[in-house]
Amino acid sequence: MTKLAMFGGARTVGPPKTLKAGIGWPVVTPEDEAAVAGVLSAGLFTSNDAGRGEVSWLQRDWAGYVGTRHCAAVVNGTAALELALAALDLEPGSEVLVPSLTFIGSAVPVVQRLLVPVFVDVDPVTFTMDPDAAAAAITPRTRAIMAVHLHGVPCDLTRLRDLAERYNLRLIEDAAQAHGATHLGRRVGSIGDINASSLNVTKNLPTCGEGGLVTTDSDELHEQVVLRRQFGESLEAGRERDYLSRVLAGNLKLSAVQAAFARSQLERLPEYDAARARNVEAFLARLAQLPGVVVPTCPPDRTHAWHILRMRLDPVAAGLGDVPAGPFRAVVQRALRAEGVPAQPYQIVPLPGQRAFRDLIGLGGGYPWRLPGARHVDYRAEDHPTALAVIEDSVTIQRWHLNPAAGPVLDACANAFAKVWENLDTLAGLARSLDYRAPWHAAEAELAA
Ligand SMILES: Cc1ncc(COP(=O)(O)O)c(C=O)c1O
Repeated sequence: MTKLAMFGGARTVGPPKTLKAGIGWPVVTPEDEAAVAGVLSAGLFTSNDAGRGEVSWLQRDWAGYVGTRHCAAVVNGTAALELALAALDLEPGSEVLVPSLTFIGSAVPVVQRLLVPVFVDVDPVTFTMDPDAAAAAITPRTRAIMAVHLHGVPCDLTRLRDLAERYNLRLIEDAAQAHGATHLGRRVGSIGDINASSLNVTKNLPTCGEGGLVTTDSDELHEQVVLRRQFGESLEAGRERDYLSRVLAGNLKLSAVQAAFARSQLERLPEYDAARARNVEAFLARLAQLPGVVVPTCPPDRTHAWHILRMRLDPVAAGLGDVPAGPFRAVVQRALRAEGVPAQPYQIVPLPGQRAFRDLIGLGGGYPWRLPGARHVDYRAEDHPTALAVIEDSVTIQRWHLNPAAGPVLDACANAFAKVWENLDTLAGLARSLDYRAPWHAAEAELAA
């Protein structure tokens, strides 16, 4: 048996600086540099480029890629969601279903629009909104469903769309983590009434900073998004600016430099996606051979963008039935990290357990819940047992595997998992005696300190 790095043995995966070519993200090529330099030399910096510049071209290319009639480029993914909600013009105090396990950026725009998020537990396999739990969370005030394709796997859009139709709700896709993923052959970002994505530098389609995209087939919704990203003003090529705000709105436009970089990356997205799928699937196939490692899978009606890899660790299947799941995950995570695997949590508190919701702080002063007609919602993490279990028993790998040349590094990570698995008996001893606190309790203690 090889000695674990956490006990002084050699680490399996080289230190990050020796792996840069295989794990760096985003991959910046001379084409990306030329695209950015092209903006500087052309001097067309504004996003109102009358179809002659990078922002318009990115909008055209992204709409073509996902398959919608319209795309509006904006400053980031959170703003894209806020604009999508604004375009739907939902009455303040209306309820929006949001999964309890997602990035807070899925829920903040709901509150910013004075809408009430109602959190819905997730499916234990896909980690996306559980359609049965969604059905149970619908009230007479529900107006929309935020379908978050977490980690790159599309939600069950067939069932969520059915619910939306049955209860007359709007469907919004949060596709920030799922560029290129498909549901029944259609790219996500083209299926909801209006949809948002992120171009954050950490995403599968990155820009060199921040960016977001709103897609829709509706002329009216698109028009609202465009108005609301620029002070409510309607700007038309060949017509002098009139400085009239048709609606009250701020400034959420994307810069031409960010658009140029993202558009250059978009050209390589299909190639990178294919390489990533090969690397990730080979990696997961190796992990799946280790008893107790539950690898992420993709339902047959969908394809996965593999944005984040979440592995659940099951002590019972690993033959350690007396070791609780949390301490088991904690010691395995520690051992993997010592071996050089970037095993880390992704979200340590379900969203309803975040203070802003749990204590009804919201925008301050208890809004939006204090709005006349709004429902007082009891936000409790305990009402989301699957989200809690997933947070407690899983580790994620983020960003490293996005690089199309990550195959050898992932292979080394699989070797590290195998080495850790050879030493499970020792680790089980550690887990049994661990002074353990669940991640959400540890987080609470940290905030209180
Ligand atoms: C699921 C999800 N929604 C929304 C966002 C917000 O995107 P951005 O960071 O571009 O504002 C992110 C990005 O981190 C995300 O992962």
